Amino acid sequence: MPKGRIFTEAVELLRKAGYRLPNKFEASRKLIIDVEEEQIQFILAKPMDVTTYVEYGVADLGIAGKDVMLEEERDVYELLDLYISHCYLAVAGLPDVKTTDVAPKVATKYPNIASTYFREQGEQVEIIKLNGSIELAPLIGLADRIVDIVSTGQTLRENGLVEMEHIGHVTSRLIVNPVSYRMKEQQIDELVERLASIIEQLDFAMDGEKML
Ligand code: PRP
Repeated sequence: MPKGRIFTEAVELLRKAGYRLPNKFEASRKLIIDVEEEQIQFILAKPMDVTTYVEYGVADLGIAGKDVMLEEERDVYELLDLYISHCYLAVAGLPDVKTTDVAPKVATKYPNIASTYFREQGEQVEIIKLNGSIELAPLIGLADRIVDIVSTGQTLRENGLVEMEHIGHVTSRLIVNPVSYRMKEQQIDELVERLASIIEQLDFAMDGEKML
């Protein structure tokens, strides 16, 4: 399970699908939580590391953002779009700043996605890898632009940055280790079905909202 924002939404989804998770689940600082009623052990990791744990098989299943999957390119299968943690990847920067550099600097947590994107655009850039607070980079002159996740847009707004290009919508996915899937197919399929049926119901409500 990814710690942070996605965790809360993922726990809510599992509860809706009927999984009995302890009340204090969200507040705990424990990194490994056994839920005996469901015979599931939850491992809490940094969102960027979830695909790594699943690739190495120390976790059978994982919940990972599509952004992390594309960036990390780990050997895992995607089983289901969970339609949680909606956000998108965008190029942003300070308004009205023109750079004359042959290769403008782009700061990002996603060097692979960003390189691929700019290559496809036919644009030469220099990628600077950062681990967080990416919005800082253009404010202090480290980079001309950033490639980062936008959720509510608050971080961009509060730092006077504007969105320039929309790269792609991101949701969280249920992923599985290929060997685990072969060994525990029945158990895993049952979990997928339970989640899929609840997501189907939620999706209708979400479609309504999107139309606004
Ligand atoms: C993410 C992302 C943006 C922010 C976007 O950072 O990298 O900075 O959230 O959210 P908003 O559009 O709702 O403001 P996160 O909070 O995960 O922390 P980080 O900067 O340390 O990566």
